[in-house]
Amino acid sequence: MRSLLLTSDLSAADMDAILAKAGDLKKRLKSGQEVSSLKGKVVGLVFEKPSTRTRTGFEVASLRLGGHSLYLSTNELQLSRGEPIKDTARVLGSYLDIIVARVNAQATVDQLAGFSGVPVVNALSELEHPTQIIADFFTILEAKGRLKGLKIAYVGDGDNVCNSLVMGSAIEGINIAVACPRNYHPSESILEQAQTMSKKTGCIVEVVEDPAKAVRDADIVYTDVWVSMGEESEKDRRLRAFKGYQVNAKLLEGAEPDASVMHCLPAHRGLEITDDVLEGAQSIVWKQAENKLYGAAAVLEWLAEQ
Ligand code: CP
Ligand code: NVA
Repeated sequence: MRSLLLTSDLSAADMDAILAKAGDLKKRLKSGQEVSSLKGKVVGLVFEKPSTRTRTGFEVASLRLGGHSLYLSTNELQLSRGEPIKDTARVLGSYLDIIVARVNAQATVDQLAGFSGVPVVNALSELEHPTQIIADFFTILEAKGRLKGLKIAYVGDGDNVCNSLVMGSAIEGINIAVACPRNYHPSESILEQAQTMSKKTGCIVEVVEDPAKAVRDADIVYTDVWVSMGEESEKDRRLRAFKGYQVNAKLLEGAEPDASVMHCLPAHRGLEITDDVLEGAQSIVWKQAENKLYGAAAVLEWLAEQ
């Protein structure tokens, strides 16, 4: 039995198998084919935070693969009245086949996995967002035809999405340059792990301060919000720190002429990205968002087969 708690839970072979499934499922589901890889299975979505894409993607994927889904907001579970995670995990695990959880602390998904006895998917924690990276890499494959040897420039906050992107890039041999202010670097331990991995997969994982330096020769320019869920009280400080880290037309000029722009969404136009870039010809953001569905389907089918 496997879980997907961190991007590093996946080998390159695992990731490639999931990406191949995403391609296959996209074709089959778009053509209206009936898929039954989750027949008779119930997927529970334990969510502590809001979500549009990840929640809907996993719910629709469960249904389209012949299974069922249950949305379990933690506000409506006894968790909100103090029932311990390990007790909740044991009970939910005895009803459900797969748990997909969006949480504040990484320790919460770890405990859900430790006590539920069923596969658990991290649908975003403060540390990582591994299923986002599956949809992202699938979108890059569609746009560029390959992953290995490309260069991603990530501009902005060294947050959960950035951590997963850094680790995933190292696993797949994608060069990645993260441009972020000094106090907003990606996780030190993930960076270290990714740099060790990059030596085996032959790519460069680097953190720089200057966005212009990061985007040089980049095939993908990626950004995420400056204020993540749960960081609202830091908003003013963050908006000041990230000034100069906006993905805009001028910054994009420094990348490869055919560079694609990505954003996991939700976006804040005029902050981390300008409207013209988000809506522009180089943006593959809407394809990326659509692919959350096929990424979710691929992860569920892959887990059901382990
Ligand atoms: N990208 C992403 O995870 O979006 P949601 O917060 O809407 O799920
Ligand atoms: N970094 C963002 C990602 C949202 C999908 C957050 O955690 O809010």
